[in-house]
Amino acid sequence: MKNKNEDVTILAIESSCDETAAAVVRNGRDVLSNVISSQIAIHTLYGGVVPEIASRKHMEKINQVIEQALSDADMKLNDVDAIGVTYGPGLVGALLVGVSAAKAISFASGKPLVGVHHIEGHISANYIENKELEPPFVCLVVSGGHTHIVIVNDYGKYEVIGRTRDDAAGEAFDKVARAIGLGYPGGPKVDKIAKEGNPHAIEFPRAVIDDAPYDFSFSGLKSAVLNYINSCKMKDIPVNTADVAASFQQAVTDMLVSRAIKAVKENGMDKLAIAGGVASNSAIRAALIEQCDKNNIRFFSPSPGLCTDNAAMIGAAAYYEYMDGVRSGWDLNAVPGLKLVSR
Ligand code: KG4
Ligand code: ZN
Repeated sequence: MKNKNEDVTILAIESSCDETAAAVVRNGRDVLSNVISSQIAIHTLYGGVVPEIASRKHMEKINQVIEQALSDADMKLNDVDAIGVTYGPGLVGALLVGVSAAKAISFASGKPLVGVHHIEGHISANYIENKELEPPFVCLVVSGGHTHIVIVNDYGKYEVIGRTRDDAAGEAFDKVARAIGLGYPGGPKVDKIAKEGNPHAIEFPRAVIDDAPYDFSFSGLKSAVLNYINSCKMKDIPVNTADVAASFQQAVTDMLVSRAIKAVKENGMDKLAIAGGVASNSAIRAALIEQCDKNNIRFFSPSPGLCTDNAAMIGAAAYYEYMDGVRSGWDLNAVPGLKLVSR
């Protein structure tokens, strides 16, 4: 094992959903390369991610993406210290492609293998551009599959204090986008069209859960949007797509921001970070910046490109796991429902 003064370089692989990605990251914070091959164009044809197609596309691209990541970093496999890979949560077939590739490379090169939790990766994306960020802090994790409020007590030490009871925030964005005819991927499209709408045009509900102040529920909001659209159609009133998008986005923003700020204040913290694809949403970022400012909370976020799935974030997380002595065996498997637990 290396000591803290020596450089540690990780080759990281991510294939949990619809991006085939590889990166080379030094000391958890310096990204030497970050290659992403997106499958969005093909899944757009079907209105969402088709798991079987995702696995097949990962298989076609994975070797190429890994080679590109090494070559962009001007490195050979021999120059890296370990192989980091996402092993869950995610689509099982998609995860298996990355895990198998990582195991093969690790076996052939004799470099240790470090399995990484995808959400730990998203949280760790914050370390890349915010060199001064250290735990403890609160992180609002908002992706296509997860909506969590996490207290990051230390590297690898997580306490999930809030979670969604139904849909994830990203899922709500995707479903509403489909309902208003924007198509897949919904989040960025809602974000864009909402800029032309009035966020106070329609009062959509903001769910509050009794006795669970940090939990979320988005299914009522999604139904309210669908009901609104249907009632417009029945009354023959044209639907103002921009107003619906902006009002929906405002409701999500209010729910996320209020709980995140409350979590920071009530847990004696002074730093808030955000993570996951939805964290790239411009309205949510603006509202968090404003509220953090008002409440004397330091706000951290990855730039939008590091919020959505990438392997650089997996390299950042793998570094802290590696330094803590974590090594995965040849029995490392894809775990679609992997829970975020502390080391
Ligand atoms: O983290 P991510 O790339 O993949 C998962 O781990 O799930 O998140 C993808 C989710 C999708 O639901 C997508 O619609 C949403 O993030 N998303 C956004 C934006 N960009 C991506 N949601 C709202 N606004 C955005 N700008
Ligand atoms: Zn993700």
